[in-house]
Amino acid sequence: MLENALHYSRTLLTNTLIPGDSVIDATVGNGNDTVLLATLVGKNGMVYGFDLQEKAIEKTKEKLLLTGLFNQVMLFNQGHETIGSVLPQDTLIAGAIFNLGYLPNGDKTIITTGNTTLIAVKEILSRLRKGGLLLLVVYHGHNGGKEEKDAVLTYVQTLSQTDYTVLRYDFLNQKNNPPLLIAIEKK
Ligand SMILES: C[S@@+](CC[C@H](N)C(=O)[O-])C[C@H]1O[C@@H](n2cnc3c(N)ncnc32)[C@H](O)[C@@H]1O
Repeated sequence: MLENALHYSRTLLTNTLIPGDSVIDATVGNGNDTVLLATLVGKNGMVYGFDLQEKAIEKTKEKLLLTGLFNQVMLFNQGHETIGSVLPQDTLIAGAIFNLGYLPNGDKTIITTGNTTLIAVKEILSRLRKGGLLLLVVYHGHNGGKEEKDAVLTYVQTLSQTDYTVLRYDFLNQKNNPPLLIAIEKK
């Protein structure tokens, strides 16, 4: 069976990341991707996680402590657009994941936006290692979602084929605006 966008993003991360890698969860939320990333990079790796909502950061911290994964994660209660000021200068990133939209079962008015998402995307691309992956799971059915989706799609199409491979993974016959996945691989 074909995987949905969310599951396929996790398959790609699992296939790409190795122990010791440095990676980014740009939208920590309930911490599901943070836990996966921390498991994949192991004790010698590092996950940098960002979320605007303190509640999301606290909940994820608890999850990581319970699963013994907290030592390989740094959580930042701040927007991913600040990534550039937080990451060590010489750190090469092997993988990054964004789940765009709002936190399920949370405040639906706190959403990611095209402007800040693209600041973070550009910053991460400048630090992506060869073979590294930047993934965006784009939820777009909510207010503001279409604008962000359009901004992201417009930008990624401008990326040079010499430097990046850009994949759009999308279902063409599903109702209710299923999320799509954009995967950018550094050549
Ligand atoms: C779709 S949810 C993420 C779900 C998460 N990956 C999980 O496993 O539960 C989107 C998250 O992005 C956060 N967010 C919104 N704007 C942000 C920004 N500028 N920087 C970082 N996080 C942001 C929201 O607070 C929300 O928790």
